[in-house]
Formats: sequence, structure tokens, C-alpha cells
Amino acid sequence: MPELGIADRMAVTLGDRLDPSLSTLFDAVPEWRVLRAAIRDAATRHGTSERWECALAALPAATPSCIAVGDTVDIGAADDLDTSACARLSTALHELEPWRKGPFRLFGVTIDAEWRSDWKWRRIAPHLTSLVGKRVLDIGCGNGYYGWRMCAAGASLVAGIETNLGHVAQHLALQHYTNDPRNSIVPLRFEAVPATATFDTAFSLGVLYHQRDPQEHLARLRPFLRSGGELVVETLVADPDETLLFADDARYARMRNVFAIPSSRALLEWLRSAGFEGGRIVDVTPTTTDEQRRTEWMRFESLADALDPMDPTRTVEGHRAPLRAVAIARAI
Ligand SMILES: C[S@@+](CC[C@H](N)C(=O)[O-])C[C@H]1O[C@@H](n2cnc3c(N)ncnc32)[C@H](O)[C@@H]1O
Repeated sequence: MPELGIADRMAVTLGDRLDPSLSTLFDAVPEWRVLRAAIRDAATRHGTSERWECALAALPAATPSCIAVGDTVDIGAADDLDTSACARLSTALHELEPWRKGPFRLFGVTIDAEWRSDWKWRRIAPHLTSLVGKRVLDIGCGNGYYGWRMCAAGASLVAGIETNLGHVAQHLALQHYTNDPRNSIVPLRFEAVPATATFDTAFSLGVLYHQRDPQEHLARLRPFLRSGGELVVETLVADPDETLLFADDARYARMRNVFAIPSSRALLEWLRSAGFEGGRIVDVTPTTTDEQRRTEWMRFESLADALDPMDPTRTVEGHRAPLRAVAIARAI
């Protein structure tokens, strides 16, 4: 069979290579054919496709002797590759920068991503209803780091939805070695995915404040969950009595794409009106420059550049420095 290009590989992430049960969830839907074509178009037109394609093609062949998923998603041992193959692996993985989510280790090469995503998972995991045997939806899943954590916690299937094809390219690099049919990514905007399948648990981590209409985002999640299913929302939150709304040209912590930061109370109200009950805030934690920072795998600006150097409790725009909350609710 000829080697598929990245556009095709992205378009078939739900298809032949992956878990038939995931294909069953979506492939029966007539719209899905159209969606596959849309993915192929977007990936083909993307200015960076060629670089990702070359990086993926340059990954040395290897079979990991072990895969261990803990705080670090650890794939293969250093001994599985000779020195030259290991150097080629490191170069190819660097070509897929910026690595925002991690940490990962591949055959002894540690990918120290911008975010210590394991810290967020530690804040969430103890509060979850067991994921054993569950079908999970992860909106804005990045490169699928949490998908591996969810599978390790027993999920039978994780469908990530991610619009940023750079993250999807990283996922393909990791899957090149893990070939794990349980953890897959649909490379689309969430808004383009028809609610044709129901899941037991849905996650929306770090996505709500990027939505122009955050209440609509929560309402859109509802039909993806079976009745009684669990929704986990992790988001920036504001002080108790304020909800911050941002105009299109405004910035929060140097980010252009932040539109609304609710108070914890407003978040719970939004969940209620979107069709969820029993909503509770299980964690509130300030984001530190140890959790989100520039590394040799993410060389752009990071949190330290977004805080006021004279008062790191404020952003450079004068807002409260990032504070993040985790809310959990049940679909009615
Ligand atoms: C701040 S990151 C959070 C990533 C990960 N969930 C986490 O918590 O670490 C937000 C992610 O959501 C993705 N995203 C934002 N809006 C989206 C949408 N409407 N549909 C799919 N993905 C979206 C972005 O591309 C980005 O990868």
C-alpha cells in the first residue's frame, strides 16, 4: 500500500487505522464523508504540512520494548534505538515544535513541553467517576497527552477533537510508535462535529475561555453525553463576583483569543442552563511559571512574558494573573 500523505493520514485518523468502534460512532453518519474531505483539504492547504510530513517520514523505525503511562508518557527504552537513530528521532521531534502539552519520553528522548500537563491531570483525576470501560470525548485535546492518561485510567476509547493540525501531527508521531487504537483525534473544530455519538464522560480543558460564546459551547457538549454522563470543564476563572468579557481586539495574558473568563459561580450557572446538574468546583489553582514555561521544545513566549514584572499577580494588561478552576457536572 502506498504511504499516505499527512492530509490523508489526518483524514483517516478515524478510519482504517483506528479502533473500529470509533469508526462506528462516526462513519455511519453521511456528513462524515464530507468532513473527511474537509479535513483533507485543510491539511493540504496548511502552510506547515510539508514540514510535518518530512518530520513524520524521518522518524526512525522502532518497536518500543515498553510503554509506561505515568506523569510522563514514556514510550520505548533508550536501548531500543542506536545512537544515530536516536539523534534522528530527536531532530524529527524538534521539527514538530512547538510542543505545548506533555511531558513525553520517546526512547529516552524527553520532550519537556511548555505545560506540565501532568499537574493539571493530578488536579482532575481524583475527582472523576471511574473511567474504566468508559467512552470519552476530549474537546481541544491538543496532541492527545490526556488521552493517554485517560486510557491508562481505564477508558475504552478516547475521541479527541482538535482544530490545530500541529498538535495532530505530534499525535501522529507518537502514534507511529504506540499504535494505540483507543486514543484518537478528530482533526476538526468541535462546532463542525455532528452530535451523533454519545459518550460517558466529556472533557473541555482549557477551551471555554477561547469561545466567543462559552454558554453555547457548554450547550453543544450536552447532546454528546448520555443522560447521567459526566462533564469536566477546566477553565480560567475570574474573581468571585466578576465575569470578564473581552472585545475582539483585547488581550488577556498576551493571548488574542480569550473572549470570556467566568467567575466560578457564573460557570456553575452556565452549566445549569446548558442542561447539567450537580455542578461543583473541585479545584481552583493559580497557574505558575513552573507549570507553564518556555522550554527547548517550545521556544516562544510563555507565561512569564505575560505577567507584569513589577507585580506578577497581574497580567501585563493589568488583569488578575491566571487562576484555573475545574468544574464537574452530570448531564440531565
Ligand atoms: C489552551 S489549549 C488546552 C489543551 C488541553 N485541553 C489542555 O487542557 O492542556 C486549547 C486547545 O483547544 C483547541 N481548541 C480551541 N477551540 C477549539 C474548537 N472550537 N474545536 C476544537 N479544538 C479547539 C486549541 O487548538 C488548543 O489546542
